[in-house]
Amino acid sequence: MTLLRWRDSLSLNVPAIDNDHKRLFELLNRVRFLDLAGDEPQAIADALSELLLYTQTHFRREEKLMELGNYPGLESHRRYHHLFTEKVAEAMANFRSNRAGFRVYDLYKLMANWLVDHVLGEDMKIRTFVAHLEEAQAA
Ligand SMILES: [Fe+2]
Repeated sequence: MTLLRWRDSLSLNVPAIDNDHKRLFELLNRVRFLDLAGDEPQAIADALSELLLYTQTHFRREEKLMELGNYPGLESHRRYHHLFTEKVAEAMANFRSNRAGFRVYDLYKLMANWLVDHVLGEDMKIRTFVAHLEEAQAA
């Protein structure tokens, strides 16, 4: 997989969520780019930390919207977020403890594939429940 590219079919037409997803694409691409460029491990570690932090912020925002919109699948969606966050946090701990043996590309690929699948699958399902909310419009 090369860099991620945003496309209209990924849009939920829910600005608050679409903006977050675009930002996550940017942060993921940044990790990929630093890795390709052979940048300092510290720069990659910082980019990964920012990515994880923003992922968590985004999940909280999305879950809040699902709550407000009474989305019936909230609990299972929340579980997907939780499992993913755990997996990424674990990978980052591995990166910190064994930078030389860690393949940043594998983590990038895991996150990029998961994100695209998740947006197209799970996130699309919440569209009609949250699109009308005022909070969904805020950028
Ligand atoms: Fe989600």
